[in-house]
Order: sequence, then C-alpha cells, then structure tokens
Amino acid sequence: MLKPTKFIRVQLFRFFAQPGNVYLAVQMLQLSKIILTHFKNYEFSSFDFNQKVIGICGLNGHGKTNLLDAIYYCCFTKSYFAGTDQMNINFEKDGFRLEAYFQQDDTAQKVVCIHRGSSKKEFFLNDAGYEKFSQHIGLLPAVIIAPDDIQIIIGGSEGRRKFLDTLISQLDITYLQQLIIYNKVLQQRNSLLKRFAEQGRTDEALLEILDEQMIGPANYIFEKRRSFTEELIPLVQDFYHRLAAHTETVKFSYETQLQQLPLKDLFKQNRDKDRILQRTNSGIHKDDISFELNGQVFKSIASQGQRKSLLFALKLAEYQLIKKYKSFPPLLLLDDVFEKLDDQRMHHLLNWVCNENNGQVFITDTHRERLETAFAKLQVEGQIIAL
Ligand SMILES: Nc1ncnc2c1ncn2[C@@H]1O[C@H](COP(=O)(O)OP(=O)(O)O)[C@@H](O)[C@H]1O
Ligand SMILES: [Mg+2]
Repeated sequence: MLKPTKFIRVQLFRFFAQPGNVYLAVQMLQLSKIILTHFKNYEFSSFDFNQKVIGICGLNGHGKTNLLDAIYYCCFTKSYFAGTDQMNINFEKDGFRLEAYFQQDDTAQKVVCIHRGSSKKEFFLNDAGYEKFSQHIGLLPAVIIAPDDIQIIIGGSEGRRKFLDTLISQLDITYLQQLIIYNKVLQQRNSLLKRFAEQGRTDEALLEILDEQMIGPANYIFEKRRSFTEELIPLVQDFYHRLAAHTETVKFSYETQLQQLPLKDLFKQNRDKDRILQRTNSGIHKDDISFELNGQVFKSIASQGQRKSLLFALKLAEYQLIKKYKSFPPLLLLDDVFEKLDDQRMHHLLNWVCNENNGQVFITDTHRERLETAFAKLQVEGQIIAL
C-alpha cells in the first residue's frame, strides 16, 4: 500500500503533469512597470518587474493588497475590492493616477488611469482615451485569488454571478456591453415599479417597452453563461479532484429561470409579484451556480479544506479557459494564498503557472523567507519586492 505522503505526491504529479497542462503557451503577457500616485496608501511609488514570478512582502497594512489591486485596476478599469472609485483615492488627496507598462510579446502596452476626484476618471491605452471602459476588458486579462473570495463558494448568489461575469467579459466584449444595457434597463424598470406603487396605478405599455429592451440582452447573457459554464464544469471538477485529492464528486450547475420559460412569459407570470414587491423578480439577475458534494448542497457539508479546494479549482478553471481563448495565460494575482495552501500544493501551483504555462504571477506574503524558499524550489529566478 502507498504511504499517504506518496499518495499525495502522485496526486499532485497527476494534477500538474496532465497533457493539457504541459503545453507551453507561445505568447505571453507581462507587466514590467507600475507607478502609483495617491492610490490608496501610496503617495508616489514606482515598481519595476523583471521576472515571471514576483513576491510582494511586507508587514500587514503596508500595501501588498493595494499594489495587487492597482495591477487589477489597470486590467479591469476598476478596483477588485473598493465599492466606489472614491475609496481608491488616498484619504488626504483629491485624486489618483496609475501608470502601467505591459509587454505582450513584441507589443508594448501603456495604460494610464487618471481620477481627479469629483469628475469622471479617464483611462488611456497607449495614450488614446477610451470611449467606453468596457472596450478595455479582456485586452490584459487577469485572475485574482483573494482571501474573501471564499464568499463565492459560501456566500450569496451575487458573488457567483460576478465570478461568471468577470470571466466571460474578458472573453466576449459583447457580453459586457449587453450586461451593462441589461442592468441599466433593470434599474429603470425597478424605479418605474416604485413610482407606480406611489401613484397607485400601473402604465402597462411603459412596462412592456422596458421588458422588450431587457429580453435581447437577457437572452444573450443567458446563452453565454450557459455555454461557458458547460466548458467550465469539467475543468472545475478536474482541478477539484486533483487539488483536493479527494475521491468525492463535486457537481456544479448553472441555474436560471430562463431555462424554464422565455423571459417574456416570465415577466407576464410575475406581473403582480413585481407590482407588490416593487422590483423585478424575473431575469438573469437572479441566476446562480449551485455546487453539490455527493448529492448535497456543497456549502452545508463541505469542510474548510474542501471549500478552499473548490475556490482554487474555480479560479484555475477560469485561468485555463482564458488561456485557451486568448492563446496566452492571464496574469495571476495571488493575495495571501500561502496562508491557504500547504507548501507542497503551493509549490506545484506556482510551478504550473510559471513553468508550464509561461504566465506571470504576483504573490503577496508577510514572510520574505517563505517566498524565497518557494522560488528556490521552483528553480525560477523570482523577484522580491519589499514594501
Ligand atoms: N484610500 C486610502 N487612503 C489611504 N490609505 C488607505 C486607503 N485605502 C486603504 N488604505 C490603507 O492601506 C492599508 C492597507 O493596505 P493593504 O494593501 O490592505 O495592506 P496589506 O495587504 O499589506 O496588509 C491600511 O492601512 C489602510 O488604511
Ligand atoms: Mg493584504
């Protein structure tokens, strides 16, 4: 019989040495420099990155997460953490500026974001401003894993929709545009329902006009969520099995009201409910992903370890899918994950990302030695940024 340690090693080997994974991406995306001015706790700081694996170390509160967020910002035109843009401005200042230099094979990409406080922010790619920020999404893809992301597994459905939207938006530019339209009309519809309640009468014709405007975007979003989750499911299951080294089966499915009835009929069916509750009860804003473990709701029976495994499996599946569609791997931003994975798993994860995918990875940690040991084991020349 195999000893447990050997068994884990075999499992890990299988995880990272699958034929699909050892493919070396021809192209790659790399961030070479970022300059932060008045962004969160930063006054003015410039960082040069010259390696594929970058460790960011420093004591708690020194700005490790904020630096990762600045990188994320340059890829997504918004913060991963802050609810409003105002929160990214240094408390004592009136605005912030980010400037980042990416290298995509032979092409240099310069990103600049200027936020002047009260007015609208500006976002530039190679000195040209964007008409719509959504046009930038997906050009510089990234995947982030942060401590609170466990909420995707155990929290409300909003986090799971956000996960799906972040993934699909990077792969399909029309998706994000349709989502923006949908959400805008949804807000209008909800305001209208409130107004009708106040006035004590409903203008059916007006409501139907908004319904019509939501149907097209809803169907597009539904179709994309359905097809991308179909691709995601086997990847997540695969990563979960290999990461968790568990034998149990995790099931994962996309749930939407639109599977039962077309949205037009759902709107009709829920007319009275909408009127009473003064909000829209049908549509893709109600979608969810359900996870099951051995036939039961995942979050009610899974251990801490199984939850972590599922979170990493989801994010790695996202990474894999982006790599497949873009033909180069996204940036990977790992915030405090050493606290989450044991050394061996961490080693294999980093090896997979850096050596087998040719991807760039940024990883924060409070312990410099832990990062140095990890890099030495990886046999990659990592770079350490001390804050
Ligand atoms: N808008 C802001 N202006 C100034 N400081 C901020 C702002 N937002 C966050 N901070 C500060 O940044 C620090 C946290 O940085 P963070 O990147 O989370 O640290 P770390 O990840 O290294 O623990 C906190 O001290 C917090 O008060
Ligand atoms: Mg942090």
